[in-house]
Amino acid sequence: MKYILYFFLSALFFVSCKTTPKEITEPYRPVRGLITQEAMVVSAREEASKIGTAILKNGGNAFDAMVATEMALAVSYPFAGSLGGGGFMVYRKTNGETGALDFREKAPLAASKDMYLDENGDPIPEKSQLGALAIGVPGTVAGVFAVHEKFGTLPIDEILTPVVDLAKRGFAITEKQKKRFDNYKDLFFEVNQDTILFAKEYKVGDTIKNLKLAETLKRIILNGKAEFYEGETGKKLVQRIQEHGGIITLEDLSKYEAQWRDPIRFKYRDLSIISMSPPSSGGVCLAQIMKMIEPYDISKYGHNQLKTIQVITEAERRAYADRSFYLGDPDFTEIPIDSLISKTYLSNRMADFSFDSATASSEINCGSITGHESDETTHYSIVDQFGNAISVTITLNGAYGSKLYVPEVGTFLNNEMDDFSAKPGVPNMFGLIGAQANAIAPEKRMLSSMTPTLVEKDGKLWMSVGTPGGSTIITSVLQTILNVKDFGMTMQDAVNAPRFHHQWLPDVVVFEPNSFDNELLDNLRAKGYNINEEQSRIIGKVDGILVLPDGALEGGADKRGDDMAVGF
Ligand code: DON
Repeated sequence: MKYILYFFLSALFFVSCKTTPKEITEPYRPVRGLITQEAMVVSAREEASKIGTAILKNGGNAFDAMVATEMALAVSYPFAGSLGGGGFMVYRKTNGETGALDFREKAPLAASKDMYLDENGDPIPEKSQLGALAIGVPGTVAGVFAVHEKFGTLPIDEILTPVVDLAKRGFAITEKQKKRFDNYKDLFFEVNQDTILFAKEYKVGDTIKNLKLAETLKRIILNGKAEFYEGETGKKLVQRIQEHGGIITLEDLSKYEAQWRDPIRFKYRDLSIISMSPPSSGGVCLAQIMKMIEPYDISKYGHNQLKTIQVITEAERRAYADRSFYLGDPDFTEIPIDSLISKTYLSNRMADFSFDSATASSEINCGSITGHESDETTHYSIVDQFGNAISVTITLNGAYGSKLYVPEVGTFLNNEMDDFSAKPGVPNMFGLIGAQANAIAPEKRMLSSMTPTLVEKDGKLWMSVGTPGGSTIITSVLQTILNVKDFGMTMQDAVNAPRFHHQWLPDVVVFEPNSFDNELLDNLRAKGYNINEEQSRIIGKVDGILVLPDGALEGGADKRGDDMAVGF
């Protein structure tokens, strides 16, 4: 029963507070987002976008602004921003150099393959989703210090002092935030066995000050990354986790390192796309889907029209089937990335697709690769005045993660362990299925769907984009890029446009409610597609920045949240 309630509450996070408009019909009347000439930050909270922009204004670069924005989200957006989570960053420097940082959580040393199974060998979802046992070793603090060490230009105290001030001054509770605090109140009590800062009675507009987090940030300014992984803060975290039945130790914390990785790069029409590599599935799946779509003239079929939806759904079906089999932590599993995103493999994969009828997911398995090769989330995008760009997606996994709060530190801790495949073939919180490649092992990173992405056109930066949304992240990023590239939308319209999603299993296409024409949905049903429009879920909450032909920047801040673009 508790589990059902949790699931229901998780779904509530996605409940749309505004009615999504009907599908855009001709003639298209473009609405632009914020336009600025030099630099921009788009994130889930006004306070975070403003702090990031202020760092840029003071002469900092996109990487300095990343550190500030990330930490400001930990203060003002505890739903997904936190010192207790992890994420991925893709960057492109002004000289065209690209790279990626993986600060994803890891399984603790004491983790084991079957740790979430009952005596019959069946997963107990609550164990991997709620409370101390669900927590992966956090990567956020290691991530921001890795970024600062490699690319930062301003001193860390200059970057983080405005964030300390924000934690002391507090942030105003929005309507959406209040609803979420109320929705999760019972679970906060249940997991923490006490009240916590975010479980109090709040009204919209009240201010939440997090003085403990301000103190933690001050210690981090003084002692650096070691404060979190070895110092007073780390000790407090471990004590709290262990008191609540968790298995993370100080050794786990001290062994944690963020990893620089090569991003996934691929072409789509005249675009060059740079996205996150494993342990996120984002870049590989996005590449697979876009390359399967490329031979079809979807701009001619029309935005969210029958043939477009069919092609995209069928490409998604095949990519998510491969995801479930081949993808996992590259430090533990050999992943045939080049084959998976090769043109030949992907055109073979689509060979049995026909516009006449849906392919049943039961007929699709992972594709066969011959031989071996040589070898609750939030997103923000930043472009600086020097031409550097970053795309960062971070998460606690579920809303407020495991719900375990560390009062002495002022932070929630993630429930990222649920992103592992607890048992082959059994779906996780997002309905995603995995196999051996994503089985639990000590120190392994769990597979992610996060898809922070940068796009180049004519050798220059064109877009920075990403979103939360669990398994729908990849398909939301996909549709946003297509909306601008193939359907000529502005950045703002592209992020606001209604979305749909398919992930192989379950064999249903999910549509945002009240956004798609009934006749269109009936036509899809007639071709054998299982349609689900009843879940009342929004799909993704995309933030992005588009470089316009004259070099100005357009922000796209998703209307589904409190997201905001700020710049100059
Ligand atoms: O890494 C992942 O794919 C998930 N932990 C993301 C969770 C998420 O997006 C939740 N927010 N909507």
